[in-house]
Amino acid sequence: MRAISQAQPNIALIKYWGKRDAGRNLPAVGSLSVTLETLWTKMTVSFPGGVAADTLRVNGRPDEAMLPRVSRCLDDLLGTARRPAVVASECNFPIAAGLASSASAFAALVVAASAAAGETREVLDLARAAGRASGSAARSLYGGIVELEAGADDIGLTALASPADWPLRVVVAVTERGPKPLGSTEGMARSAATSPFYADWVGRQHDDLAVARAAVAARDFERLAAVAEHNCLKMHSVMWTSRPSIVYWNRTTIACMEAVRDLQRGGHAVFFTIDAGPQVKAVCLPESEAAVRSALAGVAGVQELLETGLGEGARLLERA
Ligand code: DP6
Repeated sequence: MRAISQAQPNIALIKYWGKRDAGRNLPAVGSLSVTLETLWTKMTVSFPGGVAADTLRVNGRPDEAMLPRVSRCLDDLLGTARRPAVVASECNFPIAAGLASSASAFAALVVAASAAAGETREVLDLARAAGRASGSAARSLYGGIVELEAGADDIGLTALASPADWPLRVVVAVTERGPKPLGSTEGMARSAATSPFYADWVGRQHDDLAVARAAVAARDFERLAAVAEHNCLKMHSVMWTSRPSIVYWNRTTIACMEAVRDLQRGGHAVFFTIDAGPQVKAVCLPESEAAVRSALAGVAGVQELLETGLGEGARLLERA
């Protein structure tokens, strides 16, 4: 059987940075994210038989670097006695540049692989499997605004609002196209081992999550904006104070943050957030989107703008 799925990346407003259990890839902190709409990964999986080993193509080309992680995820999901898989992924946005391409990839992978294997699984089950491959991927199984809880035994997930409940917009300023210098997994381990702020970061995450959750429930944009920027800057402070220091920003990243601050001073409903890469994601209300677009387009060094609303969780497109 062959199955095709689609998943969109998600952007964390309250960030995941740090692991409680590296073996099971369990996060040290909960997180809260928005699932995007127009950026996507489409994943085709089959188990044809007569194939010696797993193969992976990304945007038409063999990807040996990513293949072991994909194989591990399939083993975890279906067991090691499974047949070798033929996996092909198509992605319409830059990969490994801090745009959460691994989140949409692993969310799409677990959906397509379980369907191709003829299984029907609960969404939470699929989300947990995606999360073991990449922590943030668990959130892309759900749409709209999503909270991931770092439960005592395993993660839990809740969709706090659907895309229609609160139609936020996201303008992504791409400031650099190359892959990021240091992967999240390695970066988190380094931060946990060396940043003097790490324990405090983990200890205060509950407070930020509570504020963000309440802000979402009340559709209070200003409150959400304040706590999201604060949480983002705290995560980057932990990164910067790791040894050796982890700095994902470039000068255009900072110029974009300044542009967002100018927009805020001009009365626009917008805030920034930045992940393990130099891109700036500006989250705004629809009425401010045109102003955000034109301000970020005017920042020297911005290479491209991607604009999207909030979208649905990972889903099966086709099974044959
Ligand atoms: C900065 O999910 O990529 O984007 O579990 O090691 O694969 P692994 O990490 P990953 O980390 C994402 C980190 C982040 C913040 C976030 O998305 O919450």
